[in-house]
Amino acid sequence: MRYQTTPYILLCGLILSMTVWANETNEFALISPCIACHGPNGSSLGLAMPTIAGLNTDTFIDIMEQYQNDERPSTIMGRLAKAYNTTDFEVMAHYFSQQSFVPAIQEVDAQKAKKGQKLHEKYCEKCHERNGTIDQEGTGIIAGQWMTYLQFNLSDFQTGVRSMPKNKKKRFQKMLQQYGEESLDHLLHFYGSQQSRNPIHDHP
Ligand code: HEC
Ligand code: HEC
Repeated sequence: MRYQTTPYILLCGLILSMTVWANETNEFALISPCIACHGPNGSSLGLAMPTIAGLNTDTFIDIMEQYQNDERPSTIMGRLAKAYNTTDFEVMAHYFSQQSFVPAIQEVDAQKAKKGQKLHEKYCEKCHERNGTIDQEGTGIIAGQWMTYLQFNLSDFQTGVRSMPKNKKKRFQKMLQQYGEESLDHLLHFYGSQQSRNPIHDHP
């Protein structure tokens, strides 16, 4: 009996390893184009490209579907997302959610960052918790992103190109009234100044 089962066990092993190989190839094929812009393991090396490592899978899939349905403003991603389906997004989300967010190393003005921190605490921390280092309920990770990329986002919010939930809009407008345009610049420097990560903060 033992001699008869051996080929089956071998065959099963072979099929199993082929399946694993096929899955890995599929994952590799899906994520390779992303890496070209979003950097090795999803941590970006280019000023206008966001780091996409460390997002929750739900957030990731939501974002991709929003791009696909033209519900989120974009220069590149809207067109690109249409080439994929939800199963592809799940594979990508799984991969990138497991990569650590590597903060961008960039020059910041310490004075501005200090003012930005106060503004963040007052107007943003409620949703962008732990100084913006964690993706909570779809907020994405804003601490340690390239300031150039964040600046695009903030001006899209300001001009209304990108919509905000009502309670965010209120806070945003209040801040601008009270602290003026430069408040946005101060926030950018605060997020840009967070260039190291406390591992405890990365994994709440
Ligand atoms: C040619 C460059 C380029 C490629 C290739 C690319 N992206 Fe993007 N991605 C961007 C840019 C630029 C943005 C900012 C939105 C925009 O302007 O399109 C972005 C934004 C995103 C965001 C939103 C990040 C956030 O925090 O809001 C996600 C998620 C994302 N891309 C995933 C992907 C995935 C997955 C792939 C591979 C299938 C990919 N991107 C390929 C350039 C690229
Ligand atoms: C009421 C909750 C809430 C508040 C308050 C809030 N945000 Fe957000 N923010 C979100 C959510 C949710 C998203 C992601 C979904 C979206 O596009 O609206 C987001 C997205 C962002 C993004 C884009 C991230 C990316 O990569 O796409 C930036 C930048 C940002 N917020 C900055 C701020 C700043 C600065 C403040 C304070 C002045 C702030 N937010 C206050 C909920 C909030």
